Amino acid sequence: MIRNRAISFLISLSLLTSTLSLLSRAQWQSASNVESFSHNKNQLSVQSGNATLHVNILAEDLIRVRLATNGVFPPDMSWAVVKKEWQAPQVNVTDSQKEIIVATNELSLIINKQPLRLKFTDKAGNIINEDEPTKGMSWNESEVRVWKKMPLDEYYYGFGEKAGRFNRRWTHISMWNSDIPAYDADTDPIYQTHPFFYGVNKGKAYGIFFDNTYWSSFDMGKENRSQYSFGAEAGEINYYFFYGPSPKKILSRYTELVGRMPLPPRWSLGYQQCRWSYPTETRVREIAKGFRDRRIPCDVIYLDIDYMDGYRIFTWNKKNFPNPKKMIDDLTKDGFKIAVIVDPGIKADTTYHAFKSGNAQDVFVKYPDGKPFIGKVWPGECAFPDFTKERARKWWGDNFSTLIESGIRGWWNDMNEPSVFDVPTKTIDLDVIHDDSGLKTGHTKNHNIYGMQMTRATYDGVKRLLPAERPFVLTRASYAGGHRYSSAWTGDNTSTWRDLEMSVPMLLNLSISGQPFVGADIGGFIGYPSGELFARWLQLGVFTPLMRAHSVINEKNKEPWEYGDEFTNINRETINLRYTLLPYIYNVMYQASVTGMPAMRPMMFEYPEDGNFTWNDEQFMFGDDLLIAPVLTPSTTERNVRLPEGFWYDYWTGQKYKGGNDIKVDAPLNRIPVFVKAGAIIPTQQVVQSTNQSPIDPLTFTVYPTKLQSTRTYYEDDGISFEYEKGKYFRRTISQWNSSQAITLTLSKVEGSYTPPGRMLAV
Ligand code: GLC
Repeated sequence: MIRNRAISFLISLSLLTSTLSLLSRAQWQSASNVESFSHNKNQLSVQSGNATLHVNILAEDLIRVRLATNGVFPPDMSWAVVKKEWQAPQVNVTDSQKEIIVATNELSLIINKQPLRLKFTDKAGNIINEDEPTKGMSWNESEVRVWKKMPLDEYYYGFGEKAGRFNRRWTHISMWNSDIPAYDADTDPIYQTHPFFYGVNKGKAYGIFFDNTYWSSFDMGKENRSQYSFGAEAGEINYYFFYGPSPKKILSRYTELVGRMPLPPRWSLGYQQCRWSYPTETRVREIAKGFRDRRIPCDVIYLDIDYMDGYRIFTWNKKNFPNPKKMIDDLTKDGFKIAVIVDPGIKADTTYHAFKSGNAQDVFVKYPDGKPFIGKVWPGECAFPDFTKERARKWWGDNFSTLIESGIRGWWNDMNEPSVFDVPTKTIDLDVIHDDSGLKTGHTKNHNIYGMQMTRATYDGVKRLLPAERPFVLTRASYAGGHRYSSAWTGDNTSTWRDLEMSVPMLLNLSISGQPFVGADIGGFIGYPSGELFARWLQLGVFTPLMRAHSVINEKNKEPWEYGDEFTNINRETINLRYTLLPYIYNVMYQASVTGMPAMRPMMFEYPEDGNFTWNDEQFMFGDDLLIAPVLTPSTTERNVRLPEGFWYDYWTGQKYKGGNDIKVDAPLNRIPVFVKAGAIIPTQQVVQSTNQSPIDPLTFTVYPTKLQSTRTYYEDDGISFEYEKGKYFRRTISQWNSSQAITLTLSKVEGSYTPPGRMLAV
């Protein structure tokens, strides 16, 4: 049933896209000659036929390009961009017969006049990126597209959550949030839209963010091996060009533009257990006891759709959960947080409070004639909140009060592409109108941001109702910038080695697209993993920020103790490792919230100049200091690891290696290969059964010697509130100084006013 749904939707999507390209190819029009231009501080306005080009120099390394094909710009609004005011950098504009040159201290934009084509160069005049000369910026009725030259040795990364391999050269990518269970490497699009990518050429990177919410596509040399292109079926050519040369600098700038992840509650970094469903109070208590009795740490248990009364959001199935508050109180005392699923579809039932109040407050999407859109999801016929309307977001958020009072603390936003079962396009009808912040536009413009705005309504609503705690939201669908509200998981994967392997590049590309809080369903959602596959997936899960196991309905139990004693012991050790490393993991997430650098980093991202990593998606960095080499194939007890230049220590044995080489390492069934960068100072703690067990005692710093000196920062706060924003945190730097006789450690003065609970420090 699920597969059929996926296939029919794929067919309808590919029909839509091929019809689009067939219909349109013939009438493409490209930007013509430049007729005039004006320049005011950091903005240039260029006239070319009927088209107007606006170029905004936002920073030394960031230029915005916006083209109105008919000379009229629509209102300048973005769901992704949060930083609108930039301090204009020093800009030099020179004009000649042939071109206009706009130069900052780091980057030049050369605007060719006959015809209008763009070229970006670095300070030394080396070309970073240029329009394809015959097409450049083009349009055809409502469709817009930009063609670029594709150098021989340039590679492409990012694009958010995409199935398939890490390096996207020679691939075609589309953006249309889609519910495709059991997707495989060729399935595209899937759940999320992040129209942001990196081009990397001999270690030098640039970035492009195409901020257009319509159905869009990126052809990275699949159609033509010497060109790539990106465009959308409507909307503007509106892109931001970032220059590195390091990928990290680009991500830092990108997350300055679209915002950074708020610091998550510490408990959300513990182990999370889910399935469709734990359908009764008895079963939920049994699962909780299952963890505690076996001494397997766990922080979160999820309730999937069956906790509700007939899948009505914001209600309880009173028969199966007679006293949710009592259940949650008891589980909270035992160190658990309970998370619930919330889907956007509101059952069209005139006796249901959310449907009644939603109608009364006019929050649901409608056709242009005012008729409500009704489509089928789990509850049967449903109305859909218009999350692009402020009033609807407020209404949605306020509805969380009863669940919050019951003690629920986690908010799993699902089906929010949105997925609709009985419509040919499998989503809200395309002519349905959304408020779109007062612009009143159709679903084609709002589809890709629907899920993101749902998470916004959830995050803001929960924060409003529970201001003393950091909300934890998890989502399936999203758009660029959605990480400001929610973590994300990669939807309905399968219990196969192929999906375990594919989850690594998916999570890496999503991570470098601005979303640092990510994970895949451990063990695979659809199907049943062998004990070995589950154990290997769990080991990888230690090094994915979201560590959540999940299972489809009507499948055998997949909890970590369901595979026999040998695997129960291995899985316990694995989850223990996660909890041992929590201080490090919390610091990695803190860094992501401050700098935008994600927890999971492709080797290429960390070491762009090392050509060995151009295609490598089988190992990755977790934070600054841990190199993770997961086992992704069956019956494997050793694997190759490519160590970057420098020195590395085997986390398990302490053995020191010189980098710049491939090595073969042991990977017995109970162990994921992990290497620590020389110079690291890794904070760890004792194993606890949940993160609310305190104090962390002792807090241990393991020093990995390096030549001369290294410094690391240690951060801590109460893990739950927003008090850190007012300075209530504990931060200090630790340095190691290495001489031939001894290693000396020095600690900086403590910054911040938070005093951690009493504890021993161990080194
Ligand atoms: C969707 C979700 C899955 C969930 C199921 C039932 O398939 O992706 O995680 O368990 O719906 O709610």
